[in-house]
Amino acid sequence: MSDPMVLTYEERGGGPALVLIHGFPLNSSMWIEQLKGLAKVRTVIAVNLRGHGYTQVDSADGFSMDLFADDVAATLDDIGVDKADICGLSMGGYVAMAFWRRHKDKVRSMIFADTKPEADSDEAKAGREKTAAAVREQGIQPLVDGVLPKMFGPNPSEELVAATRAMFESTPPEVAAADLLAMRDRPDSDLSVIDVPCLWIHGEGDQIMPIDAARTAAGTIPDCTFVAVPDAGHMSPLENPGVVIPAMTEFLQKVGK
Ligand code: MLT
Repeated sequence: MSDPMVLTYEERGGGPALVLIHGFPLNSSMWIEQLKGLAKVRTVIAVNLRGHGYTQVDSADGFSMDLFADDVAATLDDIGVDKADICGLSMGGYVAMAFWRRHKDKVRSMIFADTKPEADSDEAKAGREKTAAAVREQGIQPLVDGVLPKMFGPNPSEELVAATRAMFESTPPEVAAADLLAMRDRPDSDLSVIDVPCLWIHGEGDQIMPIDAARTAAGTIPDCTFVAVPDAGHMSPLENPGVVIPAMTEFLQKVGK
């Protein structure tokens, strides 16, 4: 396994640390609204996973959700943060679940956004391999064609689609391919063992991860508040920050320091 690395990140605000982990194939800029909107209650740290955003890598070998989680832990150690609220969207949620398994002593609370705990089915694994091969051959375009249109609820703004497309296109194809294989290999996550407060936010119109399954998954966590986000799909924090930010603020204020 590769060694953990310190990640680049965007930071805003003050007080206890909140770590935001982006989805696939995105970067820290997906959290632009949360960086602004949560700065009064937390030091908001939106990381760029290895190969994404400003976090460059020489090689995309050996990516895994565990390695991504260890990178986040190494970054917190580097900044001098002992405990943080850990939030992840979709693939970022898989990383957050790995973080819980591997670094629970560093977790004050968890926020899951538009994600799921199950490992890939055999069919989904085969799909990951096919997509990874297409991305290696043709670049990021197969993802722009196949995944981008499914990221939003009905009628997303042109601005939102353009901003998300820019994140897709800034991700090196070899990094996107390595992410796909890392997601293929992730295990099931048992959320019933999480013993810190949790919040789950989920777009009502999420086409990639339907909200009913998310509600069931959240129900397995002993202490979890579930918020259905209207007028939003898989990118609920960007699509409807007017609901997501107050929900996160209320949750984080209850969690305290
Ligand atoms: C994501 O948004 O991070 C991906 O949809 C996750 C996945 O493909 O499983």
